[in-house]
Amino acid sequence: MVSIQESIGLKAPSFAPAPESKHSKVIRKTFSNNKDSDYTEKIRELGNEFSYADNNGVLWGDRELSLLYGTPLYEVCSESQKLALNHLYWVGNYNHTAVSEATTSIYNMVTNGVFRAYGGYDTLCDELDFETDQESYHIRAFQRVGFKTKTALVGRTTLGNSLFEDLQQGSERGWLKPLMPQAVRNYFTSTQGSSPFSLQRDRTLTFVAKAMLRDKKRYYSSYLKNLEEKGEQIPAPSDGLGGRIAERYWLRFFTVHWGMSPFMACQYYSLRYTANAILKNQEYPYVRYYRELERKGEFIPTPTAISHYHLLDEAFHTTISQTLAKDVYKDFAKPTAYEKLISGLIVYKMQNSLLSGLSGILPGRCVYDDHLLLTFYYKLLKSPLFDMSTEEALQWLERCVCENHEGYQVGLKYHRSLLELMRRLFNHLDYQWEVNRDMGVMAAGGSIEKALEQNRKAFQQFSTLVRSRKS
Ligand SMILES: [Fe+2]
Ligand SMILES: [Fe+2]
Repeated sequence: MVSIQESIGLKAPSFAPAPESKHSKVIRKTFSNNKDSDYTEKIRELGNEFSYADNNGVLWGDRELSLLYGTPLYEVCSESQKLALNHLYWVGNYNHTAVSEATTSIYNMVTNGVFRAYGGYDTLCDELDFETDQESYHIRAFQRVGFKTKTALVGRTTLGNSLFEDLQQGSERGWLKPLMPQAVRNYFTSTQGSSPFSLQRDRTLTFVAKAMLRDKKRYYSSYLKNLEEKGEQIPAPSDGLGGRIAERYWLRFFTVHWGMSPFMACQYYSLRYTANAILKNQEYPYVRYYRELERKGEFIPTPTAISHYHLLDEAFHTTISQTLAKDVYKDFAKPTAYEKLISGLIVYKMQNSLLSGLSGILPGRCVYDDHLLLTFYYKLLKSPLFDMSTEEALQWLERCVCENHEGYQVGLKYHRSLLELMRRLFNHLDYQWEVNRDMGVMAAGGSIEKALEQNRKAFQQFSTLVRSRKS
């Protein structure tokens, strides 16, 4: 596919239809197979008919995919608590997936705008629109199962991060107060929305991005253009996988690149592939479990069936991510030194934030036990499921996070399989930094010793904050 602009003066005009490229064929076939499948409909039906009471007596996946699996606390849990931890793992996993897929939907639209402006990529754009539509059904099904399960197991307890935010804001305000005059403090902080400083910083970064990509102005995404005309901010996730990659101002800065340069729009798909790979790494065991139950003719829990159909739907999305990240970018002008720098920075940040550690309490996730995760578990231990006092919760949490146990071995196993999936794509990206091509940061994070060191530090800070808030 060659744009009118590129054909001028660069290639001799040809009146015969250009032969279809290999990657165009992959996109066309994927779109056609995706439209012909009925997995999204199945997911919608399963989500609508889900009742926790009909599914609460059995595991929804392998035992090792349970919160706290392998920890000293798991050893002393009752069988009903173990079932609940297996169900809550599914809920947590798909709650995270739902938020990440909402972000994906936005970036489908951002990059779609670039491909439409370039021209000649109609099938790809239609596929991206179709995927966005599918994600909305996936998200609704995950949320329905999640809400009903969470309500049945922990009632009205909030397992979100409000405690962490309270603790953080409290300490920041306390730190700023004596150091800054009121007018300066008002410039840097805001109780609602963005502070004048952050608005100014976002405007400056957007200006820099647009100046550096000024020769790509004609491809600027209509999605971003429309937002700007309405006076709205450039989107950036605050949660889910996307939200963990970097601070929101960095993500807004990157978004301008993904929504302006055809090369960078394709580069975004190496990140989307990462989300696909993380999901697949954890979803495939559910599919194996589904097939096992089917073979034995046993009852298949609804969430397990949702995972099964979701993996099938997502296989189309993964093919598209891989094709764009690995092949389609070669259709466009070669990346400039600036675009290579930004691409390198994005993937380096992504490795550090999403893939560089091991959790002691969330088996299968390649992240350290940060404050958000610790807050979630602290609240879980204080919820009706465990009903612990503050001290009991902190003492158990310390043993689960800071002692070596079987859960870390499970983490290591998932880390290895994800590393393989990641290298399968990134090894091919010759414009990337070497540390990104071989996933060097991620590989170095596959160490239980390092994880224990990091997690002990995080727990120390967390427990100090909780205890100081109590006193
Ligand atoms: Fe999905
Ligand atoms: Fe997807």
